[in-house]
Amino acid sequence: MDAALKMRLVQSALEARKNAYVPYSGYRVGAAVATKEGSIYSGCNIENASYGLTNCAERTAIFKAVSQGERDFIGLAVAVDGSRPASPCGACRQVIREFFDDETEIFLVNENGQGICTTIARLLPDGFTKENMGGYGNS
Ligand code: THU
Repeated sequence: MDAALKMRLVQSALEARKNAYVPYSGYRVGAAVATKEGSIYSGCNIENASYGLTNCAERTAIFKAVSQGERDFIGLAVAVDGSRPASPCGACRQVIREFFDDETEIFLVNENGQGICTTIARLLPDGFTKENMGGYGNS
């Protein structure tokens, strides 16, 4: 993706982080996905008194976009507080795998917007996809 869109995507993730609902961990995360048409959907982590029901920022952003009819993503940014970028949890990797191509850019950044660029192929090698289901289900 071009530098301007990357900047918008990272900025959106940084901004979404400010809405994080984190009374238990205090750890704010923001995420944003970009579509082929240049739309951006963002989300934050939303915790719960029943800890396991917490929704990560990545899934919030992706589910918001998909629920608005989007499926073709060209990038994801994940932004956290502090100097060390976070890497998506296993559950989020599986959800990213569902909608992202092998080489789609994923930017993991710290609170200054600095970090690394990776891909779902690297984050979840040999992941489970609809191709594994062969003739089963709707694939
Ligand atoms: N979290 C995310 O939102 N995304 C990540 O990539 C890592 C973890 C959240 C979940 C929880 O609210 C807090 O960070 C601590 O685990």
